[in-house]
Amino acid sequence: MKRVLSGIQPSGELHLGNYLGAINHWVQMQHTTDAFFCIVDLHAITVPKSPGELGRDSLKLSQMLMAAGLDPEVCTIFVQSHLHEHAECAWLMECTVSFGELSRMTQFKDKSEQHDFISAGLFTYPALQAADILLYDADEVPVGDDQRQHIELTRDIAERFNSRYGDTFVLPVAVINNTGARVMDLQHPHKKMSKSLESPRGTVGLLDTPAIITKKIKAAVTDSETEVRYDVETKPGVSNLLSILGAATQNDPAELAVRYEDYGTLKVDTAEAVIEMLRPLQARFAELEADPAETMRLLRIGADKARGVASATLARAKQNIGLLSP
Ligand code: AMP
Ligand code: TRP
Repeated sequence: MKRVLSGIQPSGELHLGNYLGAINHWVQMQHTTDAFFCIVDLHAITVPKSPGELGRDSLKLSQMLMAAGLDPEVCTIFVQSHLHEHAECAWLMECTVSFGELSRMTQFKDKSEQHDFISAGLFTYPALQAADILLYDADEVPVGDDQRQHIELTRDIAERFNSRYGDTFVLPVAVINNTGARVMDLQHPHKKMSKSLESPRGTVGLLDTPAIITKKIKAAVTDSETEVRYDVETKPGVSNLLSILGAATQNDPAELAVRYEDYGTLKVDTAEAVIEMLRPLQARFAELEADPAETMRLLRIGADKARGVASATLARAKQNIGLLSP
């Protein structure tokens, strides 16, 4: 079976875009691959975090992922900082990647402009990400388009390491999911739906109540025509609603369009479909949230499974480098 690994930062709440664009594919993938999902809290501290926030966010994200259908008995869900292997392997990666390569990463350029304090960790972030991937001999890394450059760099690091020290790491490939829905902001349908802080009215949180979901979808920006047509260029708002409805009901958005005469009915049905899609997720989340000790137990099982793979890879890497074994 193919080995797959992906990582997700514990920041903010998950929204409909995360779910339809990534997480529901992960849920399917766990049955056809040997899948590892890592909550990357060490990546999150590359920018300042308040101490209480991080642990809470990691716990909540684990519960969201499990509620969305990632089953700890089927795949491996774990928290990055629960294994020392990630940070340790990251050092080996830092000594394999060059300053110039790291300087060319566009995510670093973007993020460093948003902060006054630029940590060295923000700069070496892709080396830690390479460790996350290479420790698991991952064949494939499902990610959004913005991560393509980091996965390419991971391949380069693995190749360089292998040529210096002998065959050690598997070269991974990025799998950019283009078939999944790209969910746009309900208020600014030219922009991707993103963290709720930036546009709370345009973002549907996975834990939003039915009343709030209905309110946000009813208020979605459409256009001054009245015809329901799937045309992303000229009718981005209406097309976004059609693709959300399509993704939630497994229908083709263009085929759905012919069934509607007016925007009002389309909005009512879209809201209904999203509410129904999220209902079981929200119910499972409430159960998990009520019993954090059970989530912690599941995360410990995940960390143990992850460690089984990661520690062997790290030992192989250290041995191939020729570090004197203790
Ligand atoms: P982020 O937290 O923005 O890095 O997103 C985590 C995952 O969700 C990535 O795989 C993204 O590709 C996916 N994602 C985020 N926003 C959207 C969106 N609006 N539409 C579709 N997928 C998204
Ligand atoms: N850098 C990724 C992001 O910002 C998160 C991430 C960390 C990741 N380690 C990973 C993704 C390993 C895939 C594989 O979204």
